[in-house]
Amino acid sequence: MRQPLIAGNWKMNGTKASVERLLADVVAGAGAIQRSEVAVCPPYPFLQMAAQALAGSSVRLGAQNLSTEASGAFTGEVAGPMLAEFGCKYVIVGHSERRAMYGEDDALVAKKLAAAHAAGLTAILCVGETLEERERGDMEKVVGGQIDAIIQISGIGAFDVLEVAYEPVWAIGTGKTATPAQAQEVHAFIRNRLAGHSAPIAAKTRILYGGSMKASNALELLSQPDIDGGLIGGAALVAADFLAIAKAGDTAAQ
Ligand code: PGA
Repeated sequence: MRQPLIAGNWKMNGTKASVERLLADVVAGAGAIQRSEVAVCPPYPFLQMAAQALAGSSVRLGAQNLSTEASGAFTGEVAGPMLAEFGCKYVIVGHSERRAMYGEDDALVAKKLAAAHAAGLTAILCVGETLEERERGDMEKVVGGQIDAIIQISGIGAFDVLEVAYEPVWAIGTGKTATPAQAQEVHAFIRNRLAGHSAPIAAKTRILYGGSMKASNALELLSQPDIDGGLIGGAALVAADFLAIAKAGDTAAQ
């Protein structure tokens, strides 16, 4: 049984005041979450504040990106060891917004996964197809290609130390969620792809769903056999909504 992971991707949102409130509310509600692992990924400037607010709670901390390098002359970059020192357990790698807007390709994503692992962080590797790709019938080609690229560059062992998030690009921030059956189909496809290289790794890898997951659709999604959690954007900015999704994770894991 894979423990559900419910991770909030706050993206580039928040002020000191709103983040302080959100953290306090998540921590207050997290005591009632029994089976799901809960994590939040705030923007970099709020990490220290978040680490302090989460200390002593069960809520884990993550970042949204990291450099391929561990230190040095890389203006504007943030290194994995810094994130680890500031209390991060997780780091999101290869989010579709970074792939689309900041030119992150599979080779760069593989380097970032290695940098995360070297720093002792668990990466959440995001994969997913665009609407155009899905409508062309290329979903398996695109998602399989993103998975295969990492296996080819880093070996199947890379998946032993990361989480996967399937995030159909057409469902992110659009209010359009993949149906539970659509999501399950892709999650099973990803797991089969991993199983072709290592059955034990495929069986233990958590595959999260992301893309307009909210309190009202979380239980149905999280009840699918190959959906092991959620990477939550918009709904993670409202503590009650985020916690309701974590509760749904609890129910699904019963
Ligand atoms: P969303 O974002 O929940 O707002 O669709 C998910 C994500 O991009 O991780």
